[in-house]
Amino acid sequence: MSVVDEIKAQLDIVDLISESVKLRHTGKNYTGFCPFHANTRTPAFVVFPETQTWRCFGQCNEGGDIFGFVMKKEGWEFSETLKYLAEKAGVTLVEYSPEDKTDKDLQDKLAELLERAALYFRQQMLETSPGRETLDYLHQRGLTDQTIKIFGLGHAPDGWDGLMLHLKNLGFDEFVMVEAGLITERESGGYYDRFRNRLMIPIRNTYGKMVGFGGRVLNPNDVPKYINSPKTALFDKGRLLYGLDQARQSIRTNNQVVIVEGYMDAIACHQANFANVVSPMGTALTEDQFRLVKKFTRRIVLALDPDAAGEKATLRGLETARQIMDQDAELRFDARGLLHFEARLNADIRIATLPGGKDPDEIVLDDPDAWQNIISSAKPVVEHVMETLVAARDINDAKVKSEIAAQVLPLIEDVPNRVEREAYRQRLARLIKVDERALLAPAPELTRMRNKRSSQKQTQPQDTRKAPELSRSNRVLEKYSVQFLYKDPEKIYQLDHFLQSFELESFSHEDFLESDFKIVMGTIEKSLEQEEYAPSEYVEINLSETILDELSQVHKLHDPSIDVSEQKGLADLFRTVLRLRLTRVNDHINDLLFLQNEVSEEDNELALVYQAEAMELIKTRKQIDSALQSPAAAGRGKKTW
Ligand code: CTP
Ligand code: MN
Repeated sequence: MSVVDEIKAQLDIVDLISESVKLRHTGKNYTGFCPFHANTRTPAFVVFPETQTWRCFGQCNEGGDIFGFVMKKEGWEFSETLKYLAEKAGVTLVEYSPEDKTDKDLQDKLAELLERAALYFRQQMLETSPGRETLDYLHQRGLTDQTIKIFGLGHAPDGWDGLMLHLKNLGFDEFVMVEAGLITERESGGYYDRFRNRLMIPIRNTYGKMVGFGGRVLNPNDVPKYINSPKTALFDKGRLLYGLDQARQSIRTNNQVVIVEGYMDAIACHQANFANVVSPMGTALTEDQFRLVKKFTRRIVLALDPDAAGEKATLRGLETARQIMDQDAELRFDARGLLHFEARLNADIRIATLPGGKDPDEIVLDDPDAWQNIISSAKPVVEHVMETLVAARDINDAKVKSEIAAQVLPLIEDVPNRVEREAYRQRLARLIKVDERALLAPAPELTRMRNKRSSQKQTQPQDTRKAPELSRSNRVLEKYSVQFLYKDPEKIYQLDHFLQSFELESFSHEDFLESDFKIVMGTIEKSLEQEEYAPSEYVEINLSETILDELSQVHKLHDPSIDVSEQKGLADLFRTVLRLRLTRVNDHINDLLFLQNEVSEEDNELALVYQAEAMELIKTRKQIDSALQSPAAAGRGKKTW
């Protein structure tokens, strides 16, 4: 349950509004004088306990949930309101409370500082003689001046305070430099530059904001080979992918991302015109990183060096691998983990195995076609494991057969799709030359456990899946519409076109009663009025910068089961929106007729106004009905309407 839902479950709208508005029980609802405009004559303000919403049928003609009420009454932003109501409800805002203004200021300051540092390192590379050696080294490795410029590579001089003095002269505080991870405090007091005598690689986030540096040794005897920025307010290795800012466009157009091991590999790929390439920064891939790229594509290829991809890595467990290596450099292969990500994120993860002996950067620069082939022949995880295991063994040996089966079968069982599982089993049987039936009979108790597990998985609350048709809940309908348009904002054009053809108003945030969805919808609308970013990107950026918690963690809005691509998906959206409006219009008609009745004795004129409004809405209801009957909205769920 989201925080918003939790708060709503804890607080009652009648109690909350009663604190400031005198309410009178009328039928199943409550009425009062609207607090938002001067009105003494008639109580046109209604609170509906059933839907936990309010509405003013008078001058403001507006309504919403508790959040909307508090926002309007106090003139607060959503985030402020969330804090206030969370406290009132006794709900803790755990993760990520709103970025305080000061946090945001500090982050901007850090980014600016890092930007200055990157310029300094670049200048050092171009204008000093040790710097030019670094430049030569990059040329030697085949990088062009243009690539070096695009990636902003530079040189950190071999002193203790070159950067620090430079930044001080620009007016920056040591405090900020420490926070940015550029300088380190000495035990004896004072500070020194973190990066010395290194090739400097600026690291940016998805949207190009500076967040940190990687620094590679120039002297091959120095250790460690790379120093990265420490964890700062901006830099968290496990939540960033190197090169994503340069790659995201190409990832989108190619509908594929390739993940390589190192900075140099990623850079070289870009130079060779494979711009959909990114790299982690010496850590095992995390789910957060997969989520980062999932915004742009679900097709992920891992380009692994043969050691990481091969038998050794497949056999040894993740934990051992961690112990063996002093640092995390190798892009580790953990078949189970990958399958897990794949299933959870509904992604398509494949493994490309690089030939031994050469780094990817060399391959791609020497022979782009060879690189292309390697990537095109990437295999699904399970297939990759089977083939590597079989490759160097004598599969006529019965012991080997059973060993391989014992390793691969559990993986196959992890594949969520039955047809795929079946296909893998057949393939394994063929590979190790056994009868498929021999692979088919897992111990009965295992099967039982597994079934139990997978049925548990499926019954987890998935409130949006098939919900729009079945549920009358307003929040569910709103959530579905906003999730759909969040996924593909431009679908609103088709939706509006459809609505217009039935003389219905365009869809907008006004259609929402729930404040959180209202805000997301408002952002979706704005995304279509700007040109700087792709609409979905704009939504993402703006939500994460302005709104907190679950709204900023927009992936919670992301529901893979929603199909935005086909006619059927569109029909689902049309129906959901119509259903939303129908419920709303019906409610309003009832309320207006109720109000009309209430005031008819005291104020006949107003009663007539309410009646006229109700008649208008009855017309609208007819239009919605006929839109619902139309083929464009019919889809599969027609009968349920
Ligand atoms: N890495 C790291 N810390 C280390 C070693 C490696 O963070 N001590 C990370 C870096 O992101 C590096 C990646 O792991 O890019 C891969 O390491 P490696 O293959 O050793 O480096 P390359 O990037 O290939 O560097 P080069 O080709 O220049 O040797
Ligand atoms: Mn390398």
